Amino acid sequence: MSVEATAPGKMILFGEHSVVYRGPAVVLAINRRARVVAERREDRKIFIDADDLGFSGYFLDDAYYPVRGKAWRGRNLASLSIAAKRTMEHLGVDVGVNLVVRSMIPIAAGLGSSAAVCVATAAAVGELFDGNLSREDISKFAYEGEKVIHGTPSGVDNNVSAFGGLLKYERGSGIERLNLEACPTFVVGNTRRKRSTRMMVESVRALRERNPEMVDEIIDSMANVSREGLSALQGGELKRLGDLMNINHGLLSALGVSTLKLEALVHAARKEGALGAKLTGAGGGGCMIALVEEERASRVEKAIRRKRGDSMKVTLTGEGVKTRRLTGAGP
Ligand code: MEV
Repeated sequence: MSVEATAPGKMILFGEHSVVYRGPAVVLAINRRARVVAERREDRKIFIDADDLGFSGYFLDDAYYPVRGKAWRGRNLASLSIAAKRTMEHLGVDVGVNLVVRSMIPIAAGLGSSAAVCVATAAAVGELFDGNLSREDISKFAYEGEKVIHGTPSGVDNNVSAFGGLLKYERGSGIERLNLEACPTFVVGNTRRKRSTRMMVESVRALRERNPEMVDEIIDSMANVSREGLSALQGGELKRLGDLMNINHGLLSALGVSTLKLEALVHAARKEGALGAKLTGAGGGGCMIALVEEERASRVEKAIRRKRGDSMKVTLTGEGVKTRRLTGAGP
């Protein structure tokens, strides 16, 4: 018997970076999912097949043994191994697992791909051993995996992937699931430049250490923009929502996390009539998002492609992590 789990990626509308310190992040789960199939092994190996990324290998007592691809690739897979291990420890299970990982979420692009694979891993392993895990548990074990790649992330990515929908997340007070009558149209533009969330968070931390008062003022402004932005989104005030996205982008640029390519995509989208555009996630590459009126979406998408970005329309999904038992056929 094997278990399949899928979990969504995310798009941060407001609050990236500021959420690491204080104030809310406003996040939407998007209709791009990661899929993990888990199967029990009788030895204690955690074997991970990420062949569509070009590597696979196994962990035994925390050491990585590559089967395909270079040994350093183990760093990319360590988060999944930890998420699986913490889940099994919690359930008192001392065997191994095979994990087959596939994802529709672009990697290292700010759309939460690493959190989604960790969430799907914890959920699949939990279900495999009849763990009856809550979404909180799944999110918690996924966070343990996330820490391996991202240092001490705020927890926003694993939470939105586990729960789905529209969320407000604040450190300390945690998540609040929110209703949204109608989700406006968003276009995502991917610069195709991968970056590390850990390094971007570190660069903001270093900037803040050198300029504490100035950076704290920017963080406070971002927290306000986030609160205002949420009320504009829920109230369907699209023009104001766009303004606030533009303001948020300016504040993120002030923190030094934008790039020339992100600026090019943001400005191309605005020029084609997007109501607002901003980078999303950690910055330094990765993705930007544009709020558009439906009839302008394809023009904005084309403008992003002309600037050599990938573009796609995304919608909100209310569906967080979900699992399914596969009988007979295997992964
Ligand atoms: C990354 O998706 C969002 C950041 O705010 C980091 C975090 O919240 O841990 C940049």
